[in-house]
Amino acid sequence: MEKILKVEELKKYYPVKKGVFGRAAEFIKAVDGVSFSLLRGQTLGLVGESGCGKSTLARTILRLIDSDSGKIIFKGRDITALSHREIKSTRKDMQIIFQDPFNSLDPRFTVFGIVSEGLRNFSQKKSKKEIYQKVAKALEDVGLPRELLSRYPHEFSGGQRQRISIARALVLEPELLVLDEPVSSLDVSIQAQVINLLVDLQKKKNLSYIFIAHDLGIVRHICDQVCVMKDGKIVESGKTEAVFQSPGHPYTRTLLDSAPALPL
Ligand SMILES: Nc1ncnc2c1ncn2[C@@H]1O[C@H](COP(=O)(O)OP(=O)(O)OP(=O)(O)O)[C@@H](O)[C@H]1O
Ligand SMILES: [Mg+2]
Repeated sequence: MEKILKVEELKKYYPVKKGVFGRAAEFIKAVDGVSFSLLRGQTLGLVGESGCGKSTLARTILRLIDSDSGKIIFKGRDITALSHREIKSTRKDMQIIFQDPFNSLDPRFTVFGIVSEGLRNFSQKKSKKEIYQKVAKALEDVGLPRELLSRYPHEFSGGQRQRISIARALVLEPELLVLDEPVSSLDVSIQAQVINLLVDLQKKKNLSYIFIAHDLGIVRHICDQVCVMKDGKIVESGKTEAVFQSPGHPYTRTLLDSAPALPL
């Protein structure tokens, strides 16, 4: 199977203290030599306590922030050092969904405005009708009727807003979705619906997912592989069932012991 993504020895340090001459004296090693690969159509789970570097890793992979060293190879192409102009064509192939659908949707725009934004940025040549069709289809894909296109974000529940965020990503026909705690802010009853939607979309569109979560029950349910992160490093990785059944690293055992069982 094709490796859609390969990350090699990726590092991102944040300066924390300024020493003399304004130079950084100390660093937070948010991502500290991370390597893994993801096969097309599969889901890789990223777990670890708050502050271990999961979101920084995600943003670095998407080139939303620049890495200090290491390599990001996406569809066989080294994208680590591409300029922001060069990365533009790759950018639509990798999309991110954030945890909080309340802050990630611009309240001034209608659903149509939000979902069509990427299309307008990436494909200026498309006619209005084409854009409308694509947006309506993306909305349908996430289980929302097109009649809602003229509504505003505040008119929706958390689960519906997260569906709109997913539609906004899908409209660009991405191949890799990074899901940064996509259901953590939702009611438990809604979480399962959104997770099931993501699983269905993956099957239908052969999407590859990086799935960041605190909830190990969900990770076990949907991830093919899992990476356990601690202090910017991956301390354990492998097939999900293997890691869950016989964790090799003491930190993984601690995480598993402290996880509540999840009814899914
Ligand atoms: N822009 C920044 N400047 C300085 N330090 C940062 C910045 N962003 C993150 N950090 C630090 O890097 C470390 C990793 O943060 P990150 O947000 O990646 O963790 P996380 O695993 O996503 O946590 P959570 O589970 O709470 O979302 C933390 O110590 C954080 O304080
Ligand atoms: Mg985070």
